[in-house]
Amino acid sequence: MDYRTISPSLPPVSIVSLGSWNTFSRCTPDGLVALLSRAFARGINLLDVGYYWDKPDTEDAVAAALDRIGAARSDYLIAQKLWLWNYPEEGFETQLARSLARLGHDHVDVVMVSRPTGETGFANYVAEVIALISKGMARAWGVTNFLPEQVAETLALCDANGWPRPSMLQMQYNVMRRGIVEGPGYDKLWSSGGPGLCAAHTMEGGILAGHLDRDRVDPPAMAAGVRPVGRNIARDSGGIREEIRLRQPALASLAEEIGATPAQLALAFVVDHPALSTALIGVSTPQQLDENLAALDLVSRLPEIRERLDALAIAGVGHPKLFNPHNDI
Ligand SMILES: NC(=O)c1ccc[n+]([C@@H]2O[C@H](COP(=O)([O-])OP(=O)(O)OC[C@H]3O[C@@H](n4cnc5c(N)ncnc54)[C@H](OP(=O)(O)O)[C@@H]3O)[C@@H](O)[C@H]2O)c1
Repeated sequence: MDYRTISPSLPPVSIVSLGSWNTFSRCTPDGLVALLSRAFARGINLLDVGYYWDKPDTEDAVAAALDRIGAARSDYLIAQKLWLWNYPEEGFETQLARSLARLGHDHVDVVMVSRPTGETGFANYVAEVIALISKGMARAWGVTNFLPEQVAETLALCDANGWPRPSMLQMQYNVMRRGIVEGPGYDKLWSSGGPGLCAAHTMEGGILAGHLDRDRVDPPAMAAGVRPVGRNIARDSGGIREEIRLRQPALASLAEEIGATPAQLALAFVVDHPALSTALIGVSTPQQLDENLAALDLVSRLPEIRERLDALAIAGVGHPKLFNPHNDI
């Protein structure tokens, strides 16, 4: 496992790390202990967790599993998502304190804050995040789905005030959903020494790995009793998912030609991004984890198939919409 330095306040982070949304909550307690134990044994040191609208028990499950594993707190890093569902009425400190109580920890390592709306006072927003670090509730911070100009504004604010810069930028990125992360604005960001890429949704919620029937169920539909096939996955920004399903067999046969699985090829592609800090993967068993980590040995073979990988990119990818489970349309 390779590691990347993302912040002077943190130890280097494993280039593959574990997402938790709709994966940890689908494990049995013993299954989650087995999965996290295997991840730590394989050198993964970052868990991306959050209070999820459709899986609100995830942090409790993580706390119970970590407790049973008995890992020293200094042996792993927690990246904690903070949302804007009730912001600014409910500030970040209240939200983080509640998550820390669920996790049974006194700090997280990175707080990952969502892209603010136009109305949110930007300087106050960043100052509020920095206060979490000053108070010792977090050691570093990162941003999720920020626009390039928002990242630039954030960096300028941090530099002007002597605040720590965000350590990484989480974005949806996979072999077919590439256009935003590789598009104008972000390419400049990656090459100018801004925060590194924390790649999420690297397998399109499992579709790239072969779960072709998966799709998004939005909060109103969920409230009306609709249940996802397999698991819920992220919204389809840009409306390209049907095309992703159609092209998945091409990814699978390209993978087969080089002796790999589609999950491995999908992950190798993301790990190869020059600005990568870490690639989040959602896995629900130690066997899947082991399968996927073999992707690290595939990266050196990507130049052989670069053109055919590039042909899998789908035009029309959209930037993720702001998410609010109370008002999601
Ligand atoms: N910033 C954003 O907008 C955004 C969007 C989406 C996600 N995220 C973050 O990224 C993290 C990961 O996202 P994600 O869950 O969408 O991840 P993903 O890695 O795209 O997909 C995870 C799914 O892939 C399947 N999978 C993985 N390896 C496999 C294998 N070897 N064989 C078969 N299936 C395999 C798993 O299926 P099974 O469930 O069947 O095991 C799993 O549920 C999340 O926890 C979330 O925090 C962020």
